[in-house]
Amino acid sequence: MSRSAHPAGPRHADVLPEGHYTAPATDLNVLDEKVWSRTVTRDANGALTVGGIEVARLAEEFGTPAYFLDESDFRARCRAWADAFGPGADVFYAGKAFLSRAVVRWLQEEGLNLDVCSGGELTTALDAGMPAERIAFHGNNKTVAEIERAVEAGVGRIVLDSFQEIVRVAHIAQSRGLRQRVQIRVTVGVEAHTHEFIATAHEDQKFGIALAGGQAAEAVRRALTLDGLELIGIHSHIGSQIFDMAGFEVSARRVVQLLAEVRDEHGVELPEIDLGGGLGIAYTSEDDPREPHEIAKALTDIVTRECESANLSTPRISVEPGRAIVGPTAFTLYEVGTIKPLEGLRTYVSVDGGMSDNIRTALYDAEYSVALVSRSSDAEPMLVRVVGKHCESGDIVVKDAFLPADLAPGDLIAVPATGAYCRSMASNYNHALRPPVVAVRDGEARVIVRRETEEDLLRLDVG
Ligand code: LLP
Repeated sequence: MSRSAHPAGPRHADVLPEGHYTAPATDLNVLDEKVWSRTVTRDANGALTVGGIEVARLAEEFGTPAYFLDESDFRARCRAWADAFGPGADVFYAGKAFLSRAVVRWLQEEGLNLDVCSGGELTTALDAGMPAERIAFHGNNKTVAEIERAVEAGVGRIVLDSFQEIVRVAHIAQSRGLRQRVQIRVTVGVEAHTHEFIATAHEDQKFGIALAGGQAAEAVRRALTLDGLELIGIHSHIGSQIFDMAGFEVSARRVVQLLAEVRDEHGVELPEIDLGGGLGIAYTSEDDPREPHEIAKALTDIVTRECESANLSTPRISVEPGRAIVGPTAFTLYEVGTIKPLEGLRTYVSVDGGMSDNIRTALYDAEYSVALVSRSSDAEPMLVRVVGKHCESGDIVVKDAFLPADLAPGDLIAVPATGAYCRSMASNYNHALRPPVVAVRDGEARVIVRRETEEDLLRLDVG
């Protein structure tokens, strides 16, 4: 569809549902820097540019829908996390947020470590040259084959998630004459203020071993007796998209308490604690994320204080941010296909992607922002719902947002902060072809994950 051949869309700024929504006070042409990556700006004609390249050029060259990842922003965020925690701590990027070989290389260059949670992520990490000792392997049900591969590759740590796994990993390592460095993931009983599906430290869920009832202490007891294991620390991850540091503080306190109990019972001071990932980012102007240095200070202070009062030497701290590094670095670019005003309700704007490239709105009720990016507009704001092209009415990309009322088919719109958990959770629903990820930096754009083709789909269909 050409971007200029269409007449202007219908104007219906007058159809806002009563009482619920007020048009934004801010100019829709102004981009909130909180939700856009660092090199995004508008050029003199009002078109958005990233890494110095105009979006229309990107759409021309790479097509839509596509994810555009601001490489210098990604690298800057890695450095901000590494600097904030300093050489006495370790930052593991959580690969589940988005992983590709290019990302693994950037992480290495910026001095970060990597957390993987499946054989596929491990393969990608090793293939791109990440040294195995800088990899941590997670998961509540790692297969025997995955554990064997991780142990043989020499991953720096395996995070044990169940009593069965303690024995499994010990056996696999010991039978190869190895001693695997491990941490035990504990559930600290914190209710993180986030969506139920991404909260992980309350007791009624599948991850970790509960501190409550002495379960975690028992896991430590067993791990310490097994020759195939070198227990190096305790791990806790309380959830995702969290803004309030209180949950992390409770978690740190409880983990330190366990370290003190372990010291008292076994005479061993475990040298590491990992406080997981989960730090929130701004998806809309309403969100106020913490900066890495504030997070580092809060976590380091609480661990140091608790250790002093328990008379323990302070362990080495590690953290595992995924979303906070990659989330803000990318936006998804779509082309508007159809525009349907629903009298008295809102206007449905359909784009050429949808729940197959961003499932988060449907799955977690996630909120996103959206902007017209191929041009500026002085038209009135209209209330829209941005929807995809899938056969499902829950196929919503942005539930409620304002776009200019002169929006027309062929316009390009972009949804910011889609770097995390969008491409990595993308699907082929309706045999959609998963979009490419294009890295943009200093006036150059290159595909780091290519667009799927129909041949890719048919290749798997061997019936
Ligand atoms: N460490 C562990 C052990 C984790 O389970 C996770 C995320 C992280 C670190 C990274 O969390 P982050 O800093 O990215 O919040 N699909 C969901 C998020 C699931 C997170 C799973 N674990 C979403 O789209 O919001």
